[in-house]
Amino acid sequence: MAEIRSAYSSRLHFFGRTTPANLAAEFGSPLYVYNESLLRQRCRDIRALSGLPGFTPCYSTKANGNLHLLRIIREEGLQADAMSPGEVALLRAAGFSREEICYVCNNVAEEELAFAARNAGVVSVDSVSQIEAFGRVNPGGGLMVRLNPGIGAGHHQKVVTAGKNTKFGVVPEDFEAMAAALARHNLTLIGLNQHVGSLFLDPAPYLDALAWLLEAARPFLPLRILDFGGGFGIPYHKYDPEPRLDLAETGRRLDALLEPWIRETGFSGRLIIEPGRYVVAESAILLGRVQAVKNNGPVRYVGTDIGFNVLVRPAMYDSFHDVEIYPADASPRPPLAQTIVGNICETGDILAKDRLLPEIRTRDLLGLLDAGAYGYSMSSSYTQRFRPAEVLIQADGSPRLIRRREREEDLLGMFPA
Ligand code: LLP
Repeated sequence: MAEIRSAYSSRLHFFGRTTPANLAAEFGSPLYVYNESLLRQRCRDIRALSGLPGFTPCYSTKANGNLHLLRIIREEGLQADAMSPGEVALLRAAGFSREEICYVCNNVAEEELAFAARNAGVVSVDSVSQIEAFGRVNPGGGLMVRLNPGIGAGHHQKVVTAGKNTKFGVVPEDFEAMAAALARHNLTLIGLNQHVGSLFLDPAPYLDALAWLLEAARPFLPLRILDFGGGFGIPYHKYDPEPRLDLAETGRRLDALLEPWIRETGFSGRLIIEPGRYVVAESAILLGRVQAVKNNGPVRYVGTDIGFNVLVRPAMYDSFHDVEIYPADASPRPPLAQTIVGNICETGDILAKDRLLPEIRTRDLLGLLDAGAYGYSMSSSYTQRFRPAEVLIQADGSPRLIRRREREEDLLGMFPA
């Protein structure tokens, strides 16, 4: 097969000993394709962020909950953050122990708080009323409380999770009420956590928030855990140069803030971070098939089988994913402005708008890069289309099915007779 825009995946040997065409023929389309070596590398990068005693990266399961990927992440020595009973079930099935799971939830039922206390090493709640709820079902227990540092960061307003305009965390004005609620239920505050938002490439806001938490924590010491949250970004532009987050520099600055504070306070607990995207995003390419091409006025629409039920990030956040083209034939492909869309009955079903790319034709395969985080995990069965399959390109270069495509029985099996 001719290659017209696949230099990035070729350089990484992303598809190992197979090809997009073979994968689509064997496993169907659309198809999430993961690369094991890349996933392992990202786990190692994040573990190397800090060498401080107690430093504990907890992979944020919401980014991708595939059981087989979780097993790899655990083998690489990461612990995990969960936010629902389903995520806990997957983590336990992947081999994570109760102690290796921290449960960071918001606005959940008392039953769920009781479940979390039984099934996770530590539970974080994020309001005074949830402290009360936790206390009612776990009187005398220990918990972590999420604070709102007033500093947010993220790639889109919808994923900034701290500051005034968000639902998250306990704000300093409520610290007294928090202490009273803890005392009322005889609860022990064992940790404080925060998460300022998702996707930073400049670490300054993350580190500012971290410094804020260190100061905010002083009156609550001794604590067993400080958890600074996730948000470590990846560059989504792979064909135009976009600098990576400098993890080495971020780690040096993180240590420089923590070391004097640890010396001063004698803190000897765990220092948690909760990376999701950084660990899994770059390990996947989403393959889809071009089904139709047309012009509407000046716009050339490339119609694929990747609707927003399969990858919602572009429709939801206007997110950019770079596109590769694996052509069905060797005909010349002059560059054209093209808008790539899915097969859902909504105008917002756009994957990539007005991109200058080699001419895409019917039957070509496309690859949406960096689809490993919040790709499958946010997919849906809207319009009753089946969720796609997932395949892992193993370290030896061979493909292995790690989740089958949904099928009619899955759909019909939900309904009682
Ligand atoms: N910890 C907490 C408490 C979180 O809420 C999140 C993400 C993370 C950790 C992991 O953040 P990460 O390292 O992946 O940035 N769906 C959006 C991202 C939403 C993130 C929600 N919380 C997207 O597709 O960009």
